[in-house]
Parts: sequence; structure tokens; C-alpha cells
Amino acid sequence: MEGQLSHLKRAIDKGSNARYITIASGKGGVGKTLISINLAIIIASSNKKVLIIDGDFGLSNVHIMLGLAPDKNLSDFINGKASIDEIVFKINPNVHFISSGNGIQELVNLNSKDIVSILDRIHEYAETNYDIIIFDTPPGIHNETLIITSSSDIPIIISTPEPTAVADAYALIKVLNTSMMLKDFYVLINKCASKEEGAKVFGSIETVAKKFLDVNLNYVGYLTYNKNIIRKIVDQKPFDKLLTQELNEVLKRVPLNIELKTKESFWSKLAQRMKLG
Ligand SMILES: Nc1ncnc2c1ncn2[C@@H]1O[C@H](COP(=O)(O)OP(=O)(O)OP(=O)(O)O)[C@@H](O)[C@H]1O
Ligand SMILES: [Mg+2]
Repeated sequence: MEGQLSHLKRAIDKGSNARYITIASGKGGVGKTLISINLAIIIASSNKKVLIIDGDFGLSNVHIMLGLAPDKNLSDFINGKASIDEIVFKINPNVHFISSGNGIQELVNLNSKDIVSILDRIHEYAETNYDIIIFDTPPGIHNETLIITSSSDIPIIISTPEPTAVADAYALIKVLNTSMMLKDFYVLINKCASKEEGAKVFGSIETVAKKFLDVNLNYVGYLTYNKNIIRKIVDQKPFDKLLTQELNEVLKRVPLNIELKTKESFWSKLAQRMKLG
């Protein structure tokens, strides 16, 4: 196992200039996909190149929200049916998108050599072409989500004020902390009635987390419940002025240039967790 791991490290550890953000939640429907798309577009407007990877394994909904129909996905790349260029869909010149299909589950099931070879090529491509990579994950505590979230530089956990969403956000943070040794989290509260409600909901998660877990929770802010968004999503144009303003505030607290604690790249951590998990 030691030899295998050092091979994995050598092959993929070429450092990292890009930063990797994961958007995750315990409960479904809290706004992860809407937030991933809008964050990507706002970050790209300050002249950065952003790649969204839809980790909604088999249930990709980034493209549905945008009314796009990419015909190839990560799974086609893994199976040798497409090159990386062919699976990248350009939403605009600075925001690109890869739909993962069943790709991430397929990757986890490959042998170490194939995982390294595939992640090495994706690493090369991501680092050459993008500043920020955003993963939109499915809700809940799936192995693939835990691996991606705990390997990323900036894990953002989304909750709403609903008690079930709060309980599930805490449960996700707890598993990431106790099983995957993740300590630093960013928390965003969506669908709030007010700024005060956002702060109160974050406070309730923080109080329990401080008591039972060894974590640092960073509150990045709130988004208000915004009726206009529903109509815009139906029209497959999920953008809104207030949402953009609020996300700009959130972004002030998201460290896009975060200094990396180790030289280990996102892809190296991912490969190791896939084999050890
Ligand atoms: N701030 C908001 N105000 C009003 N509606 C919102 C807001 N954020 C998200 N929504 C609505 O919530 C619904 C779920 O949003 P979205 O699909 O982004 O959530 P999700 O967390 O990605 O869901 P899933 O867990 O199924 O992937 C959408 O219909 C969207 O319109
Ligand atoms: Mg979603």
C-alpha cells in the first residue's frame, strides 16, 4: 500500500495554482446548483477562468438549470469515448462546464493505475486552463461527495433555516470531520427572511459544532428567499440582481486565493482518498 501511495503522490503532485471549491449540503433543494452557477459567473467577471463540474452523478442539473444539452460527459472521457476538450461545454468564454454523468462513481471503482492516469490528465487540463474549479455535489452523505468535499480547498456547506436542513448540514459537517478529518468549513445560509435569520441559523450550527466537534466554521453569509428566482429558473435563466449583490458580499468572505497548507494538489488528495476510502 505504501508503494502504491507514493506512486500516486509522485504522479499527481505537481502542485496547484487553481483553487477548488465544493458546494455541498446535507438536505436536497437548498440552492447548491443555483449558487454554483452564479458564483462561477460572478468570479469569472473579475477576469478569472472558472470550470464548474457537476457532481450530481447521473442527475446532473447544472445543464438543466441553464437549458443546455451537453452530449458528452466525464464518463465518456473515462471510457475513452471522448477527449477532455469534447466534454467541456463553454457557458461563456470564461465559464466552462463538465457534466460528470456517472464518471465519479466509475473512477472510484477503477484500479489505482487507471485512477492516476485519468486524474493526471484532468489535473493537467484544469491547471492549464482555469483559476477556480467549482464542484456542485448531490445532497447527502455519499462516499463520492465526502471524498470531493474533503479534498477541496474551500468546502462550502449550504443550509436553509429549515430545521431539517440545519440538522442535515450538521450531520454532513460531523461526518466530514470525524471520517475525513476535515477541519475548516465555510457555511452559507440560503433562503433567509433577513440577515438576522442567517446569522442565527449559523450560530445554532456553530454552537453544537463547538461542543461536539473539532472544527473551524467560517460564516460566509446569507442569501434572502427571493421569489423572482423561481420564475427565472423556470425560464432557464437563473440570474437575478439581488442574488448577484448578495453573492458579491458572500465572496468577500470566501478566500479565493487561499494559501495551501500542503503541496499536495486536490487531485492527489482525491486519488488517495479514492483508494483508501
Ligand atoms: N434564495 C432563493 N430564493 C428562492 N428560491 C430559491 C433560492 N435558492 C434556491 N431556490 C430554489 O430552490 C430550488 C432548489 O434549488 P437548487 O436546485 O439550486 O438546489 P440544490 O441544492 O442544487 O438541489 P439538489 O439537492 O436537488 O441538487 C430551486 O427551485 C430554486 O428556485
Ligand atoms: Mg443541485
